[in-house]
Amino acid sequence: MKFFVDTADTAAIRELAATGLLDGVTTNPSLVARAGRDFFEILKEICDVVPGPVSAEVAATDFDGMLREAERLRKVADNIAIKVPLIVDGLKACKRLTDEGAMVNVTLCFSAAQALLAAKAGASFISPFIGRHDDVGQDGMALIADIRQIYDNYHFDTEILVASVRHPMHVVEAAKIGADVCTIPPDVLKKLFNHPLTEKGLEAFLADWKKTGQTIR
Ligand code: E4P
Repeated sequence: MKFFVDTADTAAIRELAATGLLDGVTTNPSLVARAGRDFFEILKEICDVVPGPVSAEVAATDFDGMLREAERLRKVADNIAIKVPLIVDGLKACKRLTDEGAMVNVTLCFSAAQALLAAKAGASFISPFIGRHDDVGQDGMALIADIRQIYDNYHFDTEILVASVRHPMHVVEAAKIGADVCTIPPDVLKKLFNHPLTEKGLEAFLADWKKTGQTIR
């Protein structure tokens, strides 16, 4: 499973990229607003640090406007993935852009039917928002399982990019289902490293090693 980080905070991206475990980045207008910086400057910085796909979302909601914005965004770097919303014009733009060889991430997916349409439009990634599904009392992970089954039935190349991830078990469950990618907020990604028994075990090993009086040279 690929790990993307879901943020526009370039300091956090640098820190996580240094682990060598980061495969890409997703941003969205809310994350850019939170960062409080110029969108293009942020994208350039991210693309310099992360060679994998970096999702940049269009703000237009009409076909022509999306294509115009996509053209500007694609100039930032070769690894930009154009993010379009799952609406009719978004899928039309997806089809056109992927036909031209661009990477496209179709976002705001909340149903298996929508995911099927995105695959037919040639999307490189489909982003089902599982946390927001859970928030309204629906089963976000069941949606991932449905999409996995549908995409496997027809051998679609579209990668399932699990979005709106809230905690480590979302990542584990998505991996069990066989989702291709998880985009994870930095604080959740850091939590994946931790287990209290690892810390306790390491403490005990270090204390015992000290007792031996030896060093490894
Ligand atoms: C995905 O690409 C989105 O940026 C993101 O995962 C949305 O997450 P949220 O529901 O926590 O805002």
